Amino acid sequence: AKLYKRTSYLLPALRKSTVGNKNAPKSSSHEGQAATQNMSFENMVESRREEACRSILVQVHSEQSCFHLHKYCCQYGEVKGMHHYSLPGSSHFVLVEFTHKANVDHILKCSSHVNRKEVIPVRSPFLWFRAPNKPLQPNHTSSEPPTPVEINGNNIPAPAELRNWIQAAESFSDQILVLHRATSLNDLGSRLRFLTARQIELALSGLFPQITVMPFGSSVNGFGKAACDLDLVLLADKEETNDEDNSDCRIVFHAKTLLTNGRTQVQRHMETLGDMVQMLLPGCSHVRRILQARVPIIKYHQDLTGVECDLSMTNMSALYMSELLYILGASDWRVRPLVFAVRSWAREIGLTNPTPGRWITNFSLTLLVLFYLQQHSKHKGPVLPTLNTMISLAGSGDHRITSEGVNCTFIRDVSQLCHHMASSSKKLPNTDNLETLFIGFFEFYSSFDFTTHAISLTNGTSVTKPDHSPMYIANPLERGLNVSKNVSHDETERLRIEFRNTAWMLESVSLTPHETSLTVSQKKADEAWGLTALFEAPQSAAKGRNIFYLPTQRVPPPRIMDVSNLFQQDTDEVGDSFV
Ligand code: CTP
Ligand code: MG
Repeated sequence: AKLYKRTSYLLPALRKSTVGNKNAPKSSSHEGQAATQNMSFENMVESRREEACRSILVQVHSEQSCFHLHKYCCQYGEVKGMHHYSLPGSSHFVLVEFTHKANVDHILKCSSHVNRKEVIPVRSPFLWFRAPNKPLQPNHTSSEPPTPVEINGNNIPAPAELRNWIQAAESFSDQILVLHRATSLNDLGSRLRFLTARQIELALSGLFPQITVMPFGSSVNGFGKAACDLDLVLLADKEETNDEDNSDCRIVFHAKTLLTNGRTQVQRHMETLGDMVQMLLPGCSHVRRILQARVPIIKYHQDLTGVECDLSMTNMSALYMSELLYILGASDWRVRPLVFAVRSWAREIGLTNPTPGRWITNFSLTLLVLFYLQQHSKHKGPVLPTLNTMISLAGSGDHRITSEGVNCTFIRDVSQLCHHMASSSKKLPNTDNLETLFIGFFEFYSSFDFTTHAISLTNGTSVTKPDHSPMYIANPLERGLNVSKNVSHDETERLRIEFRNTAWMLESVSLTPHETSLTVSQKKADEAWGLTALFEAPQSAAKGRNIFYLPTQRVPPPRIMDVSNLFQQDTDEVGDSFV
């Protein structure tokens, strides 16, 4: 029998979630995420990178092609998994994961170009499946290996669907969990992002055999939502950034001398890199060069994985920042759902915007939530440790200093950190549920004085603002930098007003579901409550807008494929005319 896995964020599984239960049922599309979820950041990244080395991406005509593609791939090695997804415009793709990297090398060696004279003959793991020269066998035999395929792995719930799920939750805290589980980056999303990084790595590996292209930001820090952008940093020679002593080595590489102005050099290299991405790499389009920014970046869209990318060259501290956020998110089960709820709130009322500007970013909002969770009351301890505590607990293996001299040393062992939090506090542990924490967040920032005070996660207290920026959130790793430097006076004021409005609204909207017994009308049962009421309230700037707006186009719902049907299909792999 063929094995078809149901992807999805199924409502019953989500509804069964119980507040405060770390082991609450998870949707199966997050199974892959769950496999990496207890790993350290470095192990998770390494495991994903290694998985990308064993994977290829194949465009197919439709999901019915999965069987024939599987059969074809099995000639080159054992197929560990196949993940189908579709993109707007009805293009279908399958990410094929082999058991060994050698299988990928073998299949790529045996792959070819069509119309060789008309294309740049680039070789990469980005492929398409053409129609065979001879007719395919429509039926499979029992001796054939099973096809482990996940269909529509990139499904994102439509706004109305998500609203229904949130409405159907059992409590306000549960609503927050449902929102988090239904909208966070799933296993296939992570796989596609690491494969997108691998494309750049492979393209440059002839010049820089030690090159590493590392995803950072929301794709890896545990706060990524489905369809989030991919931030990438290119490390040309990772080996030599380690403190290896090469002084005895007598054979030395000839190499071009660096320009004295390192920034100019980076800008020139980024320009060349932009040209390469634009002209040579399959699927990369809309290349934009933003070279005057503090961190110069190349923006591009990877059409085959459907990911928007920001590629930089000198951003090691941002990578460690992602690790810091990952550790804080992993150290308590409430952190990530709470951050998701606050970021959704900000998006719904129009405080955040996908285009950069003078408004607050998701990253700054995340730091606001983390800072709030570092606070303690008279009796209750904090949910999260301060950075100073994390630095004081660092072991010998946690020492990290970037080539720019930024000290990124802090404890990496989450279980040790949790143990310290549980054993060192003289106060009662904070066991507040998500509802209490969400309400507390708005109360806390309603009375926070952004005009005179800055936020510092280093010691978890507010400090006097070092300059006149309207909003000041000290970068936890690069202490002299203000993460929210871009936020204007007007936007800070709007944020302050919205914190107060929401704190006030949370006192007036119903935070429990309406009764669904026969005595209550269906209309009443559909009435907004909790998160839904908050975002749909007349006071909210979101009024009239789509609730829970998600930027990605709707794709067909996940389902288990009808296998019998599948094998009666005519072969329909894309033909030679399709490039
Ligand atoms: N970063 C930083 N300092 C800043 C801005 C960003 O260190 N002033 C780092 C953070 O690690 C951040 C990453 O760069 O996570 C990527 O920034 P950005 O894309 O703005 O934020 P994300 O966390 O990726 O969130 P989003 O999903 O909105 O992209
Ligand atoms: Mg990002």
